Amino acid sequence: MSSETAARFSVSLPQQLLADLDSMVQAKSYDNRSLAIADMIRRDLVEHRAKLPKGESTATVTLVFDHHQHHVQAALTDLQHDATCEVVATMHVHLDHHQCLEVIVVRGKARAIQQMADQLIAVKGVEFGRLTFATAV
Ligand code: NI
Repeated sequence: MSSETAARFSVSLPQQLLADLDSMVQAKSYDNRSLAIADMIRRDLVEHRAKLPKGESTATVTLVFDHHQHHVQAALTDLQHDATCEVVATMHVHLDHHQCLEVIVVRGKARAIQQMADQLIAVKGVEFGRLTFATAV
């Protein structure tokens, strides 16, 4: 961590996620959780600030979610219907009793794609989400 003053804030996490985080902190030899979380935040910020492709783009949005979570599937569908980018295709795989994997292929302006992906990934019940542009930057 740099010499700047650290700020404290509290975060609520599912117990299993916290246990998994602690295992990773140990496996990666971090001195403490805060250092690991700061690195994760920096990585996400780099991705968040990356320049978007210009013009029309094609991208995939990969989501893993628990279909037993109330309304998660309906929320994902609503967001796709309301998006200003075009949803070209969706593949749904039932991973196990709880989890579903969805790969959504989208086309449109990069900013619109990013906006929809951000909204999908932020839906409660989505446990993993990743946007990948398939167009050269
Ligand atoms: Ni499923």
